[in-house]
Amino acid sequence: MIREIILERRTVQTAQGDFLITCVSADLTHLYPGMERYGVRVTDGTGRTVTEFFTNTYEYTPAMELDAKSVAFRQADEWEGEFTEHPTDMVEYFSRLHPRCLPAAETADVVIIQGSPRPDGNCGQTAGLIAAETDRAGGTVQVLYPDDMDIHPCIGCYQCYNTGYCTFADDMDEVFVLVQRCRVLAVCAPVYSCSVPGALKALIDRFQAYHARRNLTDVVQGSHQAGLFFGVCGREGEVNFIPLRAIATAFFATAGIPLTGTAWADGMDRKRDVRQVSGFPGEVRSLVRQALEGAGDWGDQ
Ligand SMILES: Cc1cc2nc3c(=O)[nH]c(=O)nc-3n(C[C@H](O)[C@H](O)[C@H](O)COP(=O)(O)O)c2cc1C
Repeated sequence: MIREIILERRTVQTAQGDFLITCVSADLTHLYPGMERYGVRVTDGTGRTVTEFFTNTYEYTPAMELDAKSVAFRQADEWEGEFTEHPTDMVEYFSRLHPRCLPAAETADVVIIQGSPRPDGNCGQTAGLIAAETDRAGGTVQVLYPDDMDIHPCIGCYQCYNTGYCTFADDMDEVFVLVQRCRVLAVCAPVYSCSVPGALKALIDRFQAYHARRNLTDVVQGSHQAGLFFGVCGREGEVNFIPLRAIATAFFATAGIPLTGTAWADGMDRKRDVRQVSGFPGEVRSLVRQALEGAGDWGDQ
């Protein structure tokens, strides 16, 4: 949770009683250098929040002449003006500003993000090994296939650091709920041009909103979960996995889930089938078993 500083309080008297407009700020430098969030909260006579607005310094590009603090104060002025103009309609007016929330979704012990566009390629086979091992251990599995999902690329608007929710409402809502509730999150990724395929990259970038929600609220806590990353590539040599190792570390740090195991299969252009790569299937199975046994007991790693 974050600590807010009160910048200004304004009381507005209406036929429906007194309302308080409070301008606040919060220092988010522990998330990003110099990030500050400004907000306006309207509360009724009982202290109940009837609406709130937030904006943060990272929303404003160098070309914008606005800044977060003045935009927040401008919103306070606007609401104060609305109270004066429509003193009897304001509760009804604010009730139309619905906050975002995530949908209820299925839960699964192990969530697999299968990041290759080829459903039955080597990442698909790795996902199959993970699913079979989970099944053997009596757990449930949900496979997410980013290429088949509606996932808008992140546009860097930073609005997620206002409320903890992304500005886009698409299939990522379901991803977030599943990831939040699973015991083990496993990612299977091929190397594409020294990175990961586009749809998986879009999913990974969108976890910025998950990072925001985790840090702005106390509803998402991943330290008891386990993260696994499995990479495959066409060329020979461990060196080809340098970018994926960095992506895996960054992704699980953003998600707040300890990365407890990784396995890699290189040279797939020549070897063709990851299930035939010496030691790889056994390593995948053993990492899944360890993750399932350890998940819930990883402490604050
Ligand atoms: C567009 C594209 C880019 C690729 N880039 C690389 C690369 O940079 N390095 C590499 O070792 N393999 C590269 N590969 C090979 C894949 O990593 C390899 O075929 C892998 O087995 C694909 O995973 P899949 O079988 O799960 O689809 C690339 C393949 C494609 C289609």
